[in-house]
Amino acid sequence: MKTSDEIRNEFLKFWTSSPRNAKIIPNVSLVPNNDPTLLFVNSGMFPLVPYLAGQPHPLGKRLCNVQRCLRTNDIEDVGDYNHLTFFEMIGNWSLGAFSKTEQILWKMELYVEKFGLDPQRIFASVWGGDDNIPRDDEAIDAWIKAFKKYGIEAKFSEDITNVPQQGESSQNWQFRIFPYGKKDNWWQRGPEVNGELGGPCSEIFYDMQTVLNDTGEKLHINDDSGRYLEIGNSVFMEYRFEDGKWKPMEQKNIDYGGGLDRIVATVQNKRSVYETDLFIDYINAIENISGHKYDHNEEQK
Ligand code: SER
Repeated sequence: MKTSDEIRNEFLKFWTSSPRNAKIIPNVSLVPNNDPTLLFVNSGMFPLVPYLAGQPHPLGKRLCNVQRCLRTNDIEDVGDYNHLTFFEMIGNWSLGAFSKTEQILWKMELYVEKFGLDPQRIFASVWGGDDNIPRDDEAIDAWIKAFKKYGIEAKFSEDITNVPQQGESSQNWQFRIFPYGKKDNWWQRGPEVNGELGGPCSEIFYDMQTVLNDTGEKLHINDDSGRYLEIGNSVFMEYRFEDGKWKPMEQKNIDYGGGLDRIVATVQNKRSVYETDLFIDYINAIENISGHKYDHNEEQK
């Protein structure tokens, strides 16, 4: 079983090796030193904002890192199996250096060949389009290609509930790529003010095979059932907000981030991030000291 240290190192080795040739940027302080609008660094892209906006980065156009993050926007979810306030985010960036097709193909290669995930359990979401910005057909085609490389004839489905439902397996499942709108598949760091950067995104999900919350609704990859876990997000940061509208930028950026704790849970085949080697030693120590056994509270999500 790969350890979290091995997974972190595999990630950096993959991005710094040819043909990607990314440079590693250092982890920055959790307390931002140059942004009064942000209390804590909440994603790996934080130190890159000026460079995503077009300023040349001293290390070049291909970058990666592992950044410690603190997030409170989903604090109500903390305490379930996979939402943490403090976590490490693995990230890679292209400042106009390569295409979203390359990003999606490399992402699939990383998750399947380096992390060892089962491609048959992978699903993807793409930007479904709105009045201003069309559906992301390039991302759909790239995902079809990415699945094909591992012998899967994946199809796009407008109907997001075309995923394996309770009791159904994802082995040999055809529909794997689904469109979502602004809430799920558009990413921007802050509010819509002049100069804000954003873009459509494409997330990767893993079939955890069991439902944790049965809502009685049909399942889809972005629901709260716990069956499908989001394990990475590639943002195609290609737009700048100007005069009330998102306008295309010249520099077509890529901003990928993935929660290390969740990726480790999938690789180590654990239902909860707390059962991975990132946490289990602490839990065992607390068990020994307190004389109480750690177990899931089944009343929780
Ligand atoms: N910025 C995006 C996120 O936080 C991808 O890195 O999800």
